[in-house]
Amino acid sequence: MAWIAKQSGTATVERRPEPYLTDSMKTELTERYLPRFETKQGALIPALHMIQHAYTWIPLQAMEEVGAFLELKPSEVIDCASFYEEFHLRPRGEHMIAVCRSIACEFCDHKAITDVCREKLGIEVGETTDDGKFSLVELECLGSCGSAPVALIDEDLHEMLTPATIGAAIDEAMSGKRAAVGVSTSDLS
Ligand code: FES
Repeated sequence: MAWIAKQSGTATVERRPEPYLTDSMKTELTERYLPRFETKQGALIPALHMIQHAYTWIPLQAMEEVGAFLELKPSEVIDCASFYEEFHLRPRGEHMIAVCRSIACEFCDHKAITDVCREKLGIEVGETTDDGKFSLVELECLGSCGSAPVALIDEDLHEMLTPATIGAAIDEAMSGKRAAVGVSTSDLS
């Protein structure tokens, strides 16, 4: 397999005047997360989650700020952030549709679920709709193999999907209503 070299060393960092890593984030990291770990590096994933939760993606400037706060090199931060598909390193849509492609869902024809998403949204996996509303991705196991095939629409897990139920869930999401077709984790709380 050929190595694919990224141009990380010459990447341009687009900057904004205000920091992404806010004082309140630093306080939360200091008080809630850092005490749990032997080294500051332990708080890297919580810090990246915090940034993504606030901005929906993780800009390079934010990675630099996280690195400075946790005394890590920017390369260590980007290595971690780019390893996990759940971290978005480019701007993404307002809503995220993530279809599981791991083995249980693959056996249960996850491809048919992804195909409905592609057709409904008019985009391919990894793309965002022109209006910036929806992004479509495929992820590894979402931890719900017993109810495969599954997909996340934002933070709602939809289980035992069929082409009809994922289609209805996307229609609801597109209409601006809460996507509530199928079994949703938020229905269980
Ligand atoms: S393989 Fe899809 S949830 Fe585990």
